[in-house]
This record gives sequence, C-alpha cells and structure tokens, in this order.
Amino acid sequence: MLRGATSRRSRRLLVTAAAATAPIRGDYASLAPADLDFFREALGEANVVTEPSRLERYNVDWLGKWRGSSGVALLPASTVQVSAVLGYCNERRLAVVPQGGNTGLVGGSVPLFDEVVLSTSRMSAIRAFDAVGGVVTCEAGTILQALEEYANERGCVVPLDLGAKGSCTIGGNCATNAGGIRLLRYGSLHGSVLGIEAVLADGRVLDTLSSMRKDNTGFDLKQLLIGSEGALGVITAVSMQLPTAPSAQNVALLACASFDDVLGTLAAAKSHLSEILSAFEFLDADAMGVTLQHGHGLASPFEAPAPFYCLIETAGSSQEHDRDKLFAFLDAATEGELAADGVVAESAAQAAALWALRESTTEALTKVGHPVFKYDLSLPPSSFYAMVEDARARVCAALPDAAVVGFGHVGDGNLHLNVVLPGARRGEARAEEVEQLEALLEPWAYEYVMERGGSVSAEHGLGSMKAHLLEPVNGPVAAGLMRQVKDVFDPRGILNPGKMLG
Ligand code: FAD
Ligand code: MLT
Ligand code: ZN
Repeated sequence: MLRGATSRRSRRLLVTAAAATAPIRGDYASLAPADLDFFREALGEANVVTEPSRLERYNVDWLGKWRGSSGVALLPASTVQVSAVLGYCNERRLAVVPQGGNTGLVGGSVPLFDEVVLSTSRMSAIRAFDAVGGVVTCEAGTILQALEEYANERGCVVPLDLGAKGSCTIGGNCATNAGGIRLLRYGSLHGSVLGIEAVLADGRVLDTLSSMRKDNTGFDLKQLLIGSEGALGVITAVSMQLPTAPSAQNVALLACASFDDVLGTLAAAKSHLSEILSAFEFLDADAMGVTLQHGHGLASPFEAPAPFYCLIETAGSSQEHDRDKLFAFLDAATEGELAADGVVAESAAQAAALWALRESTTEALTKVGHPVFKYDLSLPPSSFYAMVEDARARVCAALPDAAVVGFGHVGDGNLHLNVVLPGARRGEARAEEVEQLEALLEPWAYEYVMERGGSVSAEHGLGSMKAHLLEPVNGPVAAGLMRQVKDVFDPRGILNPGKMLG
C-alpha cells in the first residue's frame, strides 16, 4: 500500500470505530461582563442579545436536535463590525459560531456550549448588480428567497433553490455548499460563486469579490470557504453568477411501480429532455404518505398511492418546443411502462402545488416524532434505493411502526434516508426505543455508504452530527491537510469549534 493511503475497507472499519462521543468544551475563554461592554460599544446595545427569551432561537437548531447555552448573540450590520468583533474574540480567545438562517440540518449553526453566536441577520443588502454579466454581489445575510425575487425582477434566477429558501441565507448556503433542487441544471456553488468576502478569525478581511468568471491568479481561496461550515472565516458578502431566467417552465409528477422504473425514467428524461431538464427529484410512497398526512393543504393528484413518484421540471426558452419535448418524453415513459401514471401542471399554481409535495417532506417528518434521524447520502444507482429497503428491514424488524422514508435529488445521486418513530420524544415518550433506533442506524448507515463508494454527506455538511467521521471518510492525509488549513486561517481555533473538524 502507498504510504498514507487507506483502502476503502480500512476506512469502513475506521467509520465503525469512530463512534460519536459527547463533545468536550475546548479551553477557550468564558464570556465576561467586560466582553459585553465591548460588544455593546462596537454594535450598539440593541444588537447584543442577552435576554434568555430572545437568545433561545440562536441556541437551538431548526430540527430542535442540538441546543447550546450561549450567553450572547451578536448582530453586526457591516463587515467592519464583524471584523471588530472577531478581532476582539480572537484576542480574548472567545469561541464564535457564525449563524445565518439557522436552517442547517447537521448541528453546525448553534453553539455546543457557551460560544458567542454571530448572526448575519442584519447584513442583507444587495451591493451591486451587473445587468450585462448577470452578476450580483450581496451581503451574507441576504435570504435566498429575497435574492431570488431580486433576480427574477431583473430577468434572472439564483442558481440555487431549496425548501428552506424563506429562511436560509446566501452566506449559510455558501458555508454549507448547499445543493438543492437546481444543482442538476446549474451545478454546485463552486461554479456559480465568483467571489467571497470573509472576515478571518483575527479580524482581517479577505476580499475575493469579483464579477469576472475567469481569474487564474493563484490559489482560488474562495473555494476553501465554500463548504467550510464556519470553520475558516465569517462570510460577509458573495458575488454570484445569476443565470438568465427561463421563459418556459413545466412541471410533471410521474408515478412509478418500482425504483428500477425511477432510474429508467431518469435515463429517459436525460435523453429526451436533455438541455431543458432542470430538476429530477423523487419520493417513495412512505415519504409521500407522511407529506400528505402532515403537510398543510396538500393533495396527491393521483387517485391511488404509488410506490414511487418522480418530480420532473423543464426550463427553457420556448414553451411550445419544451411542451413537445415533454409530451414526447411522457409518451416514451408510459409506452415503455416506466411510468404508471403522470400529470403535467397546467398553470404556475399547479406547478407550485406539485413542488410543494416534494418540498414539504422535511417539515412533515418533524410532525411524526422527535428526533428525525436524517441521512444525507450520495450513492451509486445500484445501491441507492436498496439502502432504504435494507434500512427498513433492519429497523422495522425491531420497531415495526418506525417510518423509514426515502426521497431526494435522485438526478444528482443524492438520497435523503430519514427515519422517525411516531409519537417519540427523546428523553420522554418512547425514549428507550429512540436509543434502540439510533443504535440500529449508526454506524450501520455510514458503513453501508462507505462500502459502496458513496458519501456520508452529499449536501448538508458534517456539522457536529458527523464531525467524528471527517477522518474516517477522508483518510488521514486529507483530514490532516484540512486541519493544517484550519490552523492557517484560525490559529487560535475560535471559529465553530467541535464542528466539522472535530
Ligand atoms: P445556518 O444553518 O445558519 O448555518 C449552517 C452552517 O453554515 C453552520 O456551520 C454555520 O456556522 C455556517 N454559516 C452560516 N452563515 C455563515 C457565514 N456567513 N459565514 C460562515 N459560516 C456561516 N440543504 C441543501 O443542501 N439542500 C437542500 O435541498 C436543503 N433543503 C432544506 C429544506 C429544509 C426545509 C431545511 C430546514 C433545510 C434544508 N437544507 C438543505 C439545509 C439548509 O437549509 C442549508 O444547509 C442552508 O445552506 C443553510 O443556510 P443557513 O443560512 O440557514 O445557515
Ligand atoms: C431536501 O432535499 O428536502 C433537503 O435536503 C432537506 C432534507 O434532507 O430533509
Ligand atoms: Zn436535499
């Protein structure tokens, strides 16, 4: 074996060995009254949140799974203020958790202990828009939906879209390298983001903002910040390439009898729709069942439930041409018996109603029980749905009423396997069964993915949930280099300790 190289099998064994353990607080400083004086002086009294009732939302994540006990949330309004605050925290060695919309699903956005929360919620200005190039520069706290509306008014779209768009921020999207439902069409943020402005741990401002697509003048440092989960710096602004808005859009929902038919439908969609295919998502019957049961005002367009559903979107520049292509594809899918049934939206409202079926699943699952065990995985097609079936068999043998659901971005090879016990609440109702469920799922799920050459985090990041997997899944060389990069950017280790890099 090459020095430093690890085989897939040995990494699988490392995953088994790397059980998640309770986090340990680092030896960073504790908040003192003089720190609050400094923050109030730098940001203004109203922007230093210390009242427990107002602090709650900064200490608890969207899923209600991770809870910190920070004594302060800071709400800077500018890069200069972020710089002042970070420079001070670095001197004092106060740990800081950068927070955007707090919609992250891996426990990265809230403190583990008493870290200072630095929220970008007051930094939401659009700084510039280049109409010819279609490049926008906005502050990190800009809400994704607000940016989408801004882009739409100018004939463009944001190359990223996800169910949390009403709350998540562009800074958070970049920090997590969020994927979402447009990745199939526009690729990842590593391609769309043209520049980033970030404040480093010591308060220095790294400015790589640019409206240029091409720039080969040394290491591309912004790429390190994309997906850095708050560990390398606080992103304060982003410049992004906005694609031209498609003038024709169509949405169809197909019902399939088997997962092989879903894969066949995907292949047919790629070949028939090619350049106009903009999204290909799937839900299994259980995911749809939970969504219909707990989603507000949602209804299936089909008379009978189906084992699988494919949500397909086209985006192009000629409605007639796109409809022709879509109907030729639908004919091929139904004649080839890939799809048992299908509907095509006839209006924007119907298209939104079909999308709502896919986008409401995450929230619907939280109504079933608590916690929802969420696995955001990349898998090759041959193992993609087999994993859901294997998980279901494993879990339901012991806990027959557990909801084991599969949905996600099948067009990107990204499965969301979610498991939840009806009526459970950790530490309360069904507490022992929740522990049993967790033991059935972990490390089994991670080993399963590693054995098949997949990824244990396709798009949500590692956060605190999967920080213990950084080294097992990447190997010692890559993990060691990541820690060296962290030391260069944040030598005193104040930024988001205990997350991602462990
Ligand atoms: P937060 O949750 O606040 O933070 C996430 C991480 O980024 C944390 O580690 C935090 O420290 C860091 N961070 C935040 N802002 C900054 C900053 N300015 N500088 C440095 N670090 C920062 N994710 C997907 O990838 N695809 C999906 O399809 C998707 N759908 C979702 C649907 C729902 C209903 C929900 C609740 C979540 C979904 N997510 C999805 C997860 C989540 O929305 C994304 O990870 C999103 O990018 C997080 O953005 P945020 O502003 O809420 O960041
Ligand atoms: C999604 O695709 O809906 C999101 O990533 C959220 C989730 O995994 O629940
Ligand atoms: Zn997703």
